[in-house]
Amino acid sequence: MKIQSLLAFFSVVATAWSFPYEPLRVLQMGEDEVIEVSESEKLSLLRRGFKFFDVTKHTSSLPFFRKEKEPIVPKYTYPAELSNKKVVNDLIANIDKNSMYKNLAKFTSFYTRYYKSEYGFESAEWLADTIANITQDIPQDILTIKHFDHKEWKQYSIIVRITGFTTPEDIIVIGSHQDSINLLLPSIMAAPGADDNGSGTVTNLEALRIYTEKYLKEGMRPNNTVEFHFYSAEEGGLLGSLDVFTEYAVQGKQVRAMLQQDMTGYVSDPEDEHVGIVTDYTTPALTDFIKVIINSYLSIPYRDTECGYACSDHGSATKNGFPGSFVIEGEFEKTNKYIHSTMDTLDRLSFDHMAEHTKIVLGAIIELGSWSAW
Ligand SMILES: *[C@@H]1O[C@H](CO)[C@@H](O)[C@H](O)[C@H]1NC(C)=O
Ligand SMILES: *[C@@H]1O[C@H](CO)[C@@H](O)[C@H](O)[C@H]1NC(C)=O
Ligand SMILES: [Zn+2]
Repeated sequence: MKIQSLLAFFSVVATAWSFPYEPLRVLQMGEDEVIEVSESEKLSLLRRGFKFFDVTKHTSSLPFFRKEKEPIVPKYTYPAELSNKKVVNDLIANIDKNSMYKNLAKFTSFYTRYYKSEYGFESAEWLADTIANITQDIPQDILTIKHFDHKEWKQYSIIVRITGFTTPEDIIVIGSHQDSINLLLPSIMAAPGADDNGSGTVTNLEALRIYTEKYLKEGMRPNNTVEFHFYSAEEGGLLGSLDVFTEYAVQGKQVRAMLQQDMTGYVSDPEDEHVGIVTDYTTPALTDFIKVIINSYLSIPYRDTECGYACSDHGSATKNGFPGSFVIEGEFEKTNKYIHSTMDTLDRLSFDHMAEHTKIVLGAIIELGSWSAW
């Protein structure tokens, strides 16, 4: 059977059986563009490469829907120079590519991490367990691990919070998403999701492991609160991170910086290895600061790149008035073309490259952990 007719068959079946009572989804496609579609139309948009926020749950809390202006992201002055080079370089020396490989091998062994599937719940359970193990010796008054329940689907987001010493109300967020998707038939087909976006998760897990073992366990502590977020359901239209940041905005939390890691392992040309720093729909001052980190701690350069509206979870931060930044594996047009399929596998990735991304995270949390927002 030709693939088109197979697809048509399944979408008829899916429409008839799975979605008869589901309400329409509200999708924000651009700053001023909102549409309402069925669940199957939404999937069809994803297949055709459209990016959007699924704001169905948030039409009463997001300013756009209350006919208010989108919140303006405050302008903070990030450090122009780095004052913790020795600490960061010592931490970087502990990056263990073996540990990253093992974690990603396990993470991609789930048949899929589709957020609506039982597998997606199981992969969240494994991730939560791993995080609990990594951080088990940190005193409870410093560390909390929250399972952020999304109610509509089972795969929860995970929020690891290391409470700051002098200014705990100032929050630095490191983000990545844990889910994967097979766009052909998400509920049926495999989605190893090694690069998209297991690699971001593993990059941040490794930074958290080193931060725990070589910094927090040695009795050191950030002055600002540092949080690691592992979002559910990015592939469904940034659903998980939207829930988290909308709640933060409603509660009046003060996120001073958010750095997203998503697709960190693919190198299109080893002769021209670099990271891509995203300059559209991100916060310029924070992006400039991340460039300082890259110049100081990485062995490869950065290139400016653009990735479009609603490209990854940092968009949920900026949409709620928090500064957001995003570093991706390379210039956007050179990123991994195997994502969202059964071919997004481990063997196509570079652990050296992922380790470079881990350096960015370590640099950012140490420098911003001791930075004063005012
Ligand atoms: C966490 O640690 C426990 C006890 O050492 C171990 O049994 C378990 O397999 C670990 N879990 C993960 C996910 O590594
Ligand atoms: C936290 O702030 C105190 C007081 O300003 C300072 O002495 C200390 O070095 C800071 N800690 C870090 C990790 O920067
Ligand atoms: Zn994706």
